[in-house]
Amino acid sequence: MTAAPVEVKSCCAAAYSSAAARFLLGDSFHPGGSQLTSKLIRQLGAESGSTVVDVASGLGTSARQLARELGCHVVGVELSPPSVAGAAEAAAEAGLSGRVRFLVGDAEALPLADCQHGRRLCECALCTFPDKEAAACELARVLRPGARLVLADIVAEPDRLPHELRSLAAWVACVADARPVTELSGLLERAGFVIESVGRHDGALARLLDRVDARLRTAALVGPDVLGDGVDEGRELVHAAREALSEGNLGYASILARRA
Ligand SMILES: C[S@@+](CC[C@H](N)C(=O)[O-])C[C@H]1O[C@@H](n2cnc3c(N)ncnc32)[C@H](O)[C@@H]1O
Repeated sequence: MTAAPVEVKSCCAAAYSSAAARFLLGDSFHPGGSQLTSKLIRQLGAESGSTVVDVASGLGTSARQLARELGCHVVGVELSPPSVAGAAEAAAEAGLSGRVRFLVGDAEALPLADCQHGRRLCECALCTFPDKEAAACELARVLRPGARLVLADIVAEPDRLPHELRSLAAWVACVADARPVTELSGLLERAGFVIESVGRHDGALARLLDRVDARLRTAALVGPDVLGDGVDEGRELVHAAREALSEGNLGYASILARRA
């Protein structure tokens, strides 16, 4: 896969703010949906009144959940302007606009000051960032010493993925540039985090793949305009991802870490 970083980023931002992503994935663009997010939020710990940053906040679903479940303020940072606008509208509709706000920004150069924030969530997005070292350093830069991070991400053994899972579409689908969980831990340690625990959620990824496959089959039958001619490519990706998951070369993991 030879796409330039700028192309990868703009493809990701466009794909995840599209009607197709909404049709295939619903409101939460990560395995485990709001149930797994609740578990991860509990790991971050309660500190009502403080501010949590949600990096690559997508439609803002987890940001609203963070505000409701922790009683905290939330700043979501997201590359796609339409996603930011939609997330702000949804927060206003939920009566949360006083506590939840969204900024357009790049995870590799966050529009936030140093050492300001107490906690940080980043779900299913590091795998899409071309410069993972830069993004990990940014995760650390804006956190106060002792602050907690929960990073949840697709994990993979990149050398063992088949060619179908190495395309630009597979990168956007969170797979082609996913890394082993040990590599993610090393990345966070080099950026200044101490790893506290690691969790595996591969069953959640399997259920997400089943759901996407069912949606793609429905689309093939009724032919919604929203997916254009992407149904066959989508099904090929899902099929290859299921196989990689069953062989232990793909999964979903979370890392709880503390800023040193
Ligand atoms: C798989 S979605 C996850 C969204 C959200 N965290 C969730 O779990 O529902 C990945 C998100 O990362 C965003 N994204 C991709 N590259 C980014 C970057 N460099 N900086 C900020 N956001 C980015 C995409 O626009 C998309 O909303």
